Parts: sequence; structure tokens; C-alpha cells
Amino acid sequence: MCSLPTCKRSPQDFVFKQELGRGSYSTVFKAIDRSDAGRVYAIKVCSKQHIIKEGKVKYVTIEKNTLSLLKRARHPGIVKLHSTFHDEKNLYFVLEYAAGGELLSLLHRMGTFSEAWARHFICQLIDAVEFIHSQGVIHRDLKPENLLLSSEGRLMITDFGTATTAGGSECSSFVGTAEYVCPELLLQNRCDFSSDVWALGCMIYQFVQGKPPFRGDNELQTFEKTVALDYPWNHPSTTPKTVNPLIVRLTRRILVVDPASRPSLPEIKLDKWLETVDWDNKELLWRGIWQ
Ligand code: ADE
Repeated sequence: MCSLPTCKRSPQDFVFKQELGRGSYSTVFKAIDRSDAGRVYAIKVCSKQHIIKEGKVKYVTIEKNTLSLLKRARHPGIVKLHSTFHDEKNLYFVLEYAAGGELLSLLHRMGTFSEAWARHFICQLIDAVEFIHSQGVIHRDLKPENLLLSSEGRLMITDFGTATTAGGSECSSFVGTAEYVCPELLLQNRCDFSSDVWALGCMIYQFVQGKPPFRGDNELQTFEKTVALDYPWNHPSTTPKTVNPLIVRLTRRILVVDPASRPSLPEIKLDKWLETVDWDNKELLWRGIWQ
């Protein structure tokens, strides 16, 4: 067994515990490092046979390259990639363990978030997505399942398997998760930084209402609702009076069909709903919810 950071690790270096999550081509397990004072990690295991058979090699490569690039720049809102290794059967990603689990599970447990919690998570999300974009990366599949919580309740973005870099944003055959897919991808097969902003708008709505704004009985219906901007807050009669009008206003500003008319993240930071946020006070911004 080798514990030098430069040495390649192997599955035998870890005690694998319970499953934490499952993706289309991988399973994430909690794992304890035998050699590093029992440090806990989340290890994403990808079956080589499955990846090749399902044509997912590109996604795994993108995930590794993107996480390595983002790791070098360091940001508290991005799940850290500690190392990678492989054996004859699998590829392994040793990731930072997010003890608080998926934000979606917390939302399901609570039903909806209070305005204060919604705002807190949205601010952390804006800061983290702005960082990703500053590195030239578009996530393309932002949704509450891909947002994890640290042990203090800090938000961390994970799952960069569908990320792309700006400029190279050819989207053929790519569709993220139906409920968060932006109209320009559906209508023109185009996506850029503003596609992540669209997903952010969907999440503001979801945090406050408990479910995403565009949800049909099947994917096609969801897509039809998306391009028609058919969601409750877009009609005065179905906008609940109990929701702060500033939240509705910001969501309506973001959820527009034309990506060029969608506000950028710096513009969103200046929105009236977020007016009192001190964006430069990173310590306050990145405080966990249960600290
Ligand atoms: N589920 C998926 N990835 C995870 C991680 N890094 N930590 C905890 N749970 C996870």
C-alpha cells in the first residue's frame, strides 16, 4: 500500500461502505481511506464495460478533465477531485465527501425552502457557477440532484460529466435533464453560459414551490411547456400571493426564451431580491445553513 500523494491508489486502499448515489453510468460509494487516518471520501465507480458499451467514454473524460481543471483553481462550491485510478474492470474518481447529501433530498424532506434558505442557496449557487464560468466551463446539467451539501450545510456542485467549454459548445445529441433544459437547446440545438442561468431560474422556482416550473407527464410535454414558458408564475392567476413578488420578478426575468435577453450572473447579482447580499464577503456567503 502506498500513501504518497503522487502514487496511484487502488481499490484495496479503501474500505467501501454504502451506496450514496447512482448515475447513468456510475455508482457513488462512501469509502474510508485505510492509510490516511480513516479519511472519508465519496468514490465514483464507473464500469469500463458499461461506459464503452453505452458510448459514455466522452462523458467520463470530460468529467475528469473538468474536475482537474477546477480543482487547480479551488472553490468551496465545487466538489473536489482528490485522485483517479483504474483496475481491469472500473474507473474510480475519489471525490470530496459531502456529508449533507443531495440538496434535492433536503428539499423533499422539507417540502419547500423558506425565502431565507432559498436565497442563501441561490447566492452560493450564483457564486459557484460564476466561478465555473470564469474558468470557461458550462455545466449544462445543473439541478438539485447535482448540488450536494457539506457537513456544515454548504452547497457544492458535482457531476461534470456533461460539462463543456465555451466556444466548443456544439450540442448535437446532448440534452441534459428534461425539466431544466433551456429553450435554445430544444429549438436551435444551441447552448452557452446562459443555459446554466436558465437552470438557476428553474431552481429559484423549485426551492420556493417544491417542484420544478416545467414538468409534464412525459419528456415531450415538459419540452412543450418549456418552449411555451408555460409555468404557474407566468400567469397572474396562478402566481401565489404568498410568494415575495421580487422572487417572482427575478424568475420571470431569467425564464425567457431568447438567451440574449436573459440576465447574466453579474446582472442577477444586482437584482432587487439580492440587493442586500454582500457578494465580496465570501465567509458570510459560504456559511453553512446548520452552522
Ligand atoms: N453523492 C454523489 N456524490 C456524492 C459525494 N461526493 N458525497 C456525498 N454523496 C454523494
